[in-house]
Amino acid sequence: MSAFTDKVSKRRTFAIISHPDAGKTTLTEKFLLYGGAIQEAGMVKGKQHMRHAVSDWMEIEKQRGISVTSSVLQFNYGGYCINILDTPGHQDFSEDTYRTLMAADSAVMVIDASKGVEDQTRKLFKVCAMRHIPIFTFINKMDREAKDPYELLEEIEQELGVETYPINWPIGCGKEFKGVYEREKREVIRFVAASKGARNKAEEIITAVDDPSLKEAIGDDYYATLQDDVELLDGAGAVFDLDRVHEGKLSPVCFGSALTNFGVEPFLEHFLDFSTPPMPRMSDEGPIDPMSEDFSAFVFKIQANMNSRHRDRMAFMRICSGTFTKGMDVYHVQGKKKIKLNQSKSLMADEREEIQEAYSGDIIGVFDPGIFSIGDTIVTGKKHFAFEGIPTFAPEHFARIRNRDTMKRKQFVKGITQIAQEGAIQIFTELGGGFEEIIVGVVGVLQFEVLAYRLKNEYNVEIVNTPLPYQFIRWVVNKDIDVKTLNLSSDTKYVEDLKGNTLLLFSNTWGINWATERNSGLELAEFSKN
Ligand code: G4P
Repeated sequence: MSAFTDKVSKRRTFAIISHPDAGKTTLTEKFLLYGGAIQEAGMVKGKQHMRHAVSDWMEIEKQRGISVTSSVLQFNYGGYCINILDTPGHQDFSEDTYRTLMAADSAVMVIDASKGVEDQTRKLFKVCAMRHIPIFTFINKMDREAKDPYELLEEIEQELGVETYPINWPIGCGKEFKGVYEREKREVIRFVAASKGARNKAEEIITAVDDPSLKEAIGDDYYATLQDDVELLDGAGAVFDLDRVHEGKLSPVCFGSALTNFGVEPFLEHFLDFSTPPMPRMSDEGPIDPMSEDFSAFVFKIQANMNSRHRDRMAFMRICSGTFTKGMDVYHVQGKKKIKLNQSKSLMADEREEIQEAYSGDIIGVFDPGIFSIGDTIVTGKKHFAFEGIPTFAPEHFARIRNRDTMKRKQFVKGITQIAQEGAIQIFTELGGGFEEIIVGVVGVLQFEVLAYRLKNEYNVEIVNTPLPYQFIRWVVNKDIDVKTLNLSSDTKYVEDLKGNTLLLFSNTWGINWATERNSGLELAEFSKN
């Protein structure tokens, strides 16, 4: 194996998803702690409780306590190089989650053991399932009162439609949490409560399941229950089938308590055993082998003004083959141009370290002078192929956005177009109209809040937002139609997007039917074709 293929085969890239508060941030911090990436997991600088997770860096995220955008973290563990892609927990940002999943080879789903499957778990899981990637489940907070583990697995299977396979099994919960039984090794990792805040690795006491001392250690009742559980799991449970895991049909499940560091390391080790190295990616020239030495990557996220100290724009790319080296010359397929990849950064909270080299599977952020769009491909080889595109979700909420101070027109136009290029919002104007009045469409209403906040903070522009009653959008496929002559219901509106495509906005499905029934030949599409 060459040094390059060895590096790629030791890479793992996963996205982490959860309902807010299930413990995604805590688990991420503990991964980093085990990887030795940071000394004290998570404690970067004070917010209310001196806790501010390394992966939350946008001001609005800190204030609202929600994750608005995804960030990327990298750490090393057991000879592997692991990239974690954080995702926003709120469903209003599920489009960002989808794009992030495009850059990941698998997903980790965190579930609160006392709550089970929650609203956002359901919604984010749906987005995950669209990608058909392996999903690893971590059932967290076992140090608190928890639902029955059988019930939890059943809930996941019923509500999310994925089979589960418990890799380990909890013994008790809350104050009576005794540890987990590792099924393959047939041993019990005993729970030793780490001190609150737990900044050190968990101490581990491991006892074989048939060791006579176990009964005394966990108590007669728990011992008896464990024997029954072991028998039941071995007898009736699903068979472990790694192929089904890789197809996203069977989710390996581990139990633990991220806060007390318990079960994090075993989870990480199981994850490394069962997850795949970077997989081939589909392009218009067929699948691209991650072991190919020619560099290729695609842009899955664009983010401006991530840090008030660096007011610049970054394009985040997933490397799909070859090696990235700082300042390398590449070919930007969509822009049809040779460019130099400059100021490449890896993200580590506020501190952005310059990357010298990165490999297939890694995520890099490069300085974007405004040339990249989401989905763009970058290559170094002779073949100028393009990776499969990233679909745009159809917006479901619309508002008319006006600039409060007409003197600030330039900042307003700059801000709103930059934010639209990041893919957080979609903007439309009246046919042939300018930027005086803009209609903004979003997938989730919270995006409007983010828009107003960012325009004010990053561009010093205040806006007036008037909600509009539209709920559906359709692209007019026919290029030769004059929409002004169409027979449309009175509450249908026609607009155009930044690329000059014509679109129709409808308040209800009745309006859509009206348009297609009364205008023969009119072709409407739910997604933009370009
Ligand atoms: P999120 O990113 O999924 O939104 O969740 P986050 O990690 O921020 O965790 C949400 C809350 O749950 C935090 O408490 C965190 O300390 C707690 N938590 C996470 N994992 C565990 C666990 O294994 N056991 C227990 N008992 N609690 C856990 P908080 O009160 O919101 O924050 P803090 O003030 O304690 O920091």
